[in-house]
Amino acid sequence: MESKIIRKKFMDFFEQKSHKIVPSAPIVVQNDPTLMFTNAGMNQFKDIFLGDRKPAAKRVADTQKCLRVSGKHNDLEEVGFDTYHHTMFEMLGNWSFGDYFKKEAIEWAWELLTKEFGLDADRMYVTVFEGDKSESLAADEESRAFWATQISEDRILNGSKKDNFWEMGDTGPCGPCSEIHIDLRSDSDRKKVSGKELVNMDHPQVVEVWNLVFIQFNRLSNGSLENLPQKHVDTGMGFERLAMAIQAKESNYDTDVFQPIIQEVAQMAGVEYGVDKQKDIAIRVIADHIRAISFTIADGQLPGNVKAGYVVRRILRRAVRYGYSFLGMNAPFLNELVPKLVSQFGDIFTELFDQKDFVQKVIKEEELTFLRTLDKGLLLIEGLIKESESVKIKGDSIFKLYDTYGFPKDLSLLILRERDLESRLSENWEKEFDTLKSEQQNRSKVASEQDAGDWIQVLESESDSEFLGYEQLEAESRIVKYRKIVEKKSTFFQLVLDKTPFYAESGGQVGDSGVFIQNGAKTVVFDTKKEHDLIVHFTKDLPKDLSMSVNSSVAKDRRSKTENNHSSTHLLHAALREVLGEHVQQRGSLVNDKILRFDFSHFAKMSEEEISRVEQIVNLRIRQNILLDERRNVPIETAKEMGAMALFGEKYGSEVRVITFDSDYSVELCGGTHVPATGKIGLLKITSESSVAAGVRRIEAVTAEAAENFVNENLQLIESVRQILKHPKDLAQSVKNLVEEKSSLTKKVERYELERLKNLTTELKDRVEVINGLNTIFYEGSFASGDAVKQIAFDLKRQIENLILVIGGNVDDKPNLTVMLSDNLVEENDLNAVDVIRSVSSHIKGGGGGQSFYATAGGKDLSGLSEAVQAAKKLLLDV
Ligand code: SER
Repeated sequence: MESKIIRKKFMDFFEQKSHKIVPSAPIVVQNDPTLMFTNAGMNQFKDIFLGDRKPAAKRVADTQKCLRVSGKHNDLEEVGFDTYHHTMFEMLGNWSFGDYFKKEAIEWAWELLTKEFGLDADRMYVTVFEGDKSESLAADEESRAFWATQISEDRILNGSKKDNFWEMGDTGPCGPCSEIHIDLRSDSDRKKVSGKELVNMDHPQVVEVWNLVFIQFNRLSNGSLENLPQKHVDTGMGFERLAMAIQAKESNYDTDVFQPIIQEVAQMAGVEYGVDKQKDIAIRVIADHIRAISFTIADGQLPGNVKAGYVVRRILRRAVRYGYSFLGMNAPFLNELVPKLVSQFGDIFTELFDQKDFVQKVIKEEELTFLRTLDKGLLLIEGLIKESESVKIKGDSIFKLYDTYGFPKDLSLLILRERDLESRLSENWEKEFDTLKSEQQNRSKVASEQDAGDWIQVLESESDSEFLGYEQLEAESRIVKYRKIVEKKSTFFQLVLDKTPFYAESGGQVGDSGVFIQNGAKTVVFDTKKEHDLIVHFTKDLPKDLSMSVNSSVAKDRRSKTENNHSSTHLLHAALREVLGEHVQQRGSLVNDKILRFDFSHFAKMSEEEISRVEQIVNLRIRQNILLDERRNVPIETAKEMGAMALFGEKYGSEVRVITFDSDYSVELCGGTHVPATGKIGLLKITSESSVAAGVRRIEAVTAEAAENFVNENLQLIESVRQILKHPKDLAQSVKNLVEEKSSLTKKVERYELERLKNLTTELKDRVEVINGLNTIFYEGSFASGDAVKQIAFDLKRQIENLILVIGGNVDDKPNLTVMLSDNLVEENDLNAVDVIRSVSSHIKGGGGGQSFYATAGGKDLSGLSEAVQAAKKLLLDV
């Protein structure tokens, strides 16, 4: 059965059982501070489980793109070595939100696996939770009883909290679970050892296919469990493993989910998959990672240096490195796999299809950069190898390669090994490396550590976080719940209100600030953010009486300026598409009260002319004073028909808000706040156009007062230049003249300096005094620069044998002392320039150093220069 059919059968089965089929949420998570990537199908339903949001349907099924590379569920280092771990995988799931529970979940899972998919019941085992004393949790007898109606009792196994109590992270919804395992070994192997013995033992062919979780608790940050208001079902079935079981393969990688990519990689590298163990691992790493990378980029996460971006970059580099080290791929190759991936998955995950060129381009740029880094690292290793003839290579050097050049430890090791130079490593280099690495990790951890207390419920309210801020900037609000957040340096509070005018940061628009007023006392709100669908207000302290209402009031001027900038990004977006073309898509934006920043896909630097055309169009639209047309609760299909574009990686409900400024010009899906008519913006000025990543450009601009200030400041600047230049007729021409004049003067001065240096060198040569057979020069005079003195000293050293040269220079009224000695005097007569400089530089109140044949000192006291020269003379000639 082809994997496409498997996926479809799953959906059809649950659709028949009244489930609503929903799309996968983006793989990159927004609005959840505890999670960077979707790591389980249930993430997108977390607030439904917690009772914070009502579900649109009580029964739901889907396939969810998941990534397990950080936090509680992290499989990255395993991937490639075995046959069943992945970074990115699809999780098929069916959900009940306070609807059916254990009985149906178990019966349907069994029916689907054995009847629809025809899996052999004899090969299957199930586990149920055995209970846990330390948490006072009873054994899951209910699940055992339901299973007993489907499968013989000796196939129902007990599982501990580790395997049979599922938790999403350190906190959040959780509950006991029941897993279905399948034994895919040959009949003879099965006879020898019963599959029962191998369940949950990391056997590659006795694997878990489906996990049925019965969500009924919320894990609090203090570690305790709280009962949820309702009971839910969350099931997750690894699609790739299911394909392996149904297609009777020994490895996920042998199914039709991975084979097309595997064959493509093998062909590119000119090797055969399944022949060489090391090469196979590399091919699997690449086949796995290209999926993770492509899907995250398609969902809006570019590779970068921090957080989610850094994770994507690390996965990409891991793939490149395996290709480079084991398959000899030293030119970009990953990006060339994108078309194959698109042909396989583009119809289910259309975001991949829609952005194939962009995804490929981004990957290629990253590959190029990393390959260059690898080259640089290689040079560095060469240096280390040379040095290691005298000193062993220590852990800190290997760490530097890792930390600064992204050069992983095992790659450095591999290179040394290949050249049989492993013995050049110091004995405890690895320990040193690991210590440095964990120190670095701790540093970054401590910096971001935040201790979030549990929510404390103040009010049982029907509505949470009703947003009033499209119409009003003030409201009477009740506090629903709050919690305390302790960070390393500060403590603050987060509050949720029943209704609020405060806009929570999203869609690039900053969160509102403002105040809560209660009996005349003010509590400052310094930020507002979203957590799932909750609007969370950040305050330094709490209102005095939490049970009383507060007057919540948004900082109006800040909001108004922010709105100017937000509406302007819409006008800008439309203008960019008009000038540059329809390929322009929003890639990110920041809108606050000071500036607007707009990132968009476009492959070349914008010309001056394009920039000014865009600016002209926007300003024309501003002057047209177009009225805002705001529509809420528009069905998403209707919105798309209106021409509104959805952003990739953004999660939309079935109903959306559409913001239009002239239906022929700008129609966008947007939750932000806007000006009532464009005329309020006044003026837009683009302040910069730059590159942020491969294929992504960034425009920054200012509007309204800020644009006026920008223009005025520039005019003032011009005016002051005019004044300095005494009001020339043609300002540009006269600045140009000045620059040309300066450059010809500089050239003249340089020529003159050179001439002078030559003369001075000759002059000094004439001053040579022969003392004890040594050619000595002791000279004081002014010089144009320290470099000039240096040049003379080296010229003289080259030209005169047995030289002792001491120069007391006056450079811009500062003393400069130089001692230069012929090499033979250093070696044979035991003279040392550094010693001399050290002992005489006190005369000029200074210090310095150098090498034994040449040393210099600078100082503060010019009046001591002669004494210094004399003292040096005495030291050198007394010897
Ligand atoms: N949440 C469970 C898991 O991720 C089942 O979907 O395994």
